Amino acid sequence: MGNFKGVALQLLLVFSLLHLSFAKINWFYNYHIHIRNDLPLPMLKGQDYTWDTKINFLHTTLFFCNARWVGRKRMSFDAFTVGRDEQRCLHYHNSCMWSVREDGIYFSQNNATWEYSYRW
Ligand SMILES: *[C@@H]1O[C@H](CO)[C@@H](O)[C@H](O)[C@H]1NC(C)=O
Repeated sequence: MGNFKGVALQLLLVFSLLHLSFAKINWFYNYHIHIRNDLPLPMLKGQDYTWDTKINFLHTTLFFCNARWVGRKRMSFDAFTVGRDEQRCLHYHNSCMWSVREDGIYFSQNNATWEYSYRW
């Protein structure tokens, strides 16, 4: 009887821990990262570069993006980091939306309002 209680408690503990980590970590979501070219370049404007990712087991998924505006600007920014983007990119089709513009890089979590995020 004592032993059964012990096993039951352990199971309960394991299930609780599993539940906690599943609740906290969005392992199963497929995130879409979109980087849109909104530079004043007639031929390329609106070009959307997209890829998908899931959050890894260690919760350390990181993507950075090297942006280069040939002959003008060049910079590198974090396109996806777990701590910053895990929640905010769930609002709009699991998408992180980035827009590369003349004055810098903008982020949107709804593809409608844009927040200035990185300077060139
Ligand atoms: C974002 O909005 C634009 C229109 O403003 C649309 O063309 C584009 O497909 C949208 N992108 C996504 C990923 O929904």
